[in-house]
Amino acid sequence: MKKIVIIGANDFQNQLILKAKEMGFETHVFAWQDGSIGERTADYFYPIDIKLTDKILEKCREIQPDAVASIASDLANITVSKVAEGLNLPGNSSECIRLSTNKYAMREAFSEAGIATPKFYRVDRIEAYLFGLRLPLIVKPTDRSGSRAITKVTNFADLKEAIKNAVNQSFEHQAIVEEYIEGDEYSYESISYKGKHTNLAITKKFTTGSPHFIESGHRQPCSFPEDLLYKIHYVMRRGLDALQITDGASHGEFKITPDGKVRIIEIGSRMGGDCIGSDLVYLSTGYDYMEMVIDTACGKEPVIMPKHGPRNAEVRFLFTVEDVKRMQAYKAKYPEQIYRISELNLSNLGHILDSSTRLGYYIIHSEHDLP
Ligand SMILES: Nc1ncnc2c1ncn2[C@@H]1O[C@H](COP(=O)(O)OP(=O)(O)O)[C@@H](O)[C@H]1O
Ligand SMILES: [Mg+2]
Repeated sequence: MKKIVIIGANDFQNQLILKAKEMGFETHVFAWQDGSIGERTADYFYPIDIKLTDKILEKCREIQPDAVASIASDLANITVSKVAEGLNLPGNSSECIRLSTNKYAMREAFSEAGIATPKFYRVDRIEAYLFGLRLPLIVKPTDRSGSRAITKVTNFADLKEAIKNAVNQSFEHQAIVEEYIEGDEYSYESISYKGKHTNLAITKKFTTGSPHFIESGHRQPCSFPEDLLYKIHYVMRRGLDALQITDGASHGEFKITPDGKVRIIEIGSRMGGDCIGSDLVYLSTGYDYMEMVIDTACGKEPVIMPKHGPRNAEVRFLFTVEDVKRMQAYKAKYPEQIYRISELNLSNLGHILDSSTRLGYYIIHSEHDLP
């Protein structure tokens, strides 16, 4: 029986565990033990913190898997890459992982590749030269994700606090301060194999907006005029190459400025979280993205062939009791459009600080327009 090692066991990763099982793999899952669903769905679960790469690698040498994979998490992506490298399995290079998980290294790589980026600085405290930047600014930890400690700063008096916040959340105690890019935000979901990129879908992203930009929903598909779509592909492919992404899924976030320019926010060398990669791509296009991730992790060329026709698909996140009620009303009115409802975590009510503390979500899909 083929074996796959999966890093992470939360609700998002669970979709990959289920897909691997469906494809006939024996699943070996590593994660911090916290009662996550993957602990129960995996064939074998190992309660090891995913940051303890050496310990995981040691265990994996015994398992001898055919592939190691993960979706939707930067932290897990780092471990996947180190384990794959240690076992001589296919994957992106360690340089690619460095460039695609550190926001400062990433901006430098874009800049060196000649891709337009906002002005940016790396800091661990407030510094005089920062005043050369034009407001508004975005401050973020260099090496975190999931909207942790992201602040839009519209007044220099608030900069110090924003930097302190971001530095505190950063593993390497560094923040990146960059000029704010105006415009609507989208993401670019792709699969790469031996350096060749195929874009599978583009997603419209909705956030709570300033100051913390926590994702509130995602919708596929998006339609663009042909010349704009060409620009999107051009910029995003250059971005993927600049980060040396060669294999597996990627999730590129970008904005379209009011004057029609495509500007990259960041690109991850892994699937988009928030059910974008694990569910929306398949629902809206018929492309079996998770199967492609598993195939490329085994060194196999992904099959880029839709399994059904196009649909509208959306994930909506729950922040308040009103959101939960709205979801229940939706379910009562359009039961056939509900694809999945997550477990609800009401303990975070009233203090949602980032995407990991949202109450839950629901996924809807239809061949017709979604209300
Ligand atoms: N330079 C920027 N200009 C405008 N908005 C930004 C900028 N950087 C980040 N944002 C907003 O903050 C969100 C989170 O930032 P991002 O760099 O994607 O961090 P994370 O890893 O937490 O997702 C983005 O999706 C975007 O909405
Ligand atoms: Mg992001």
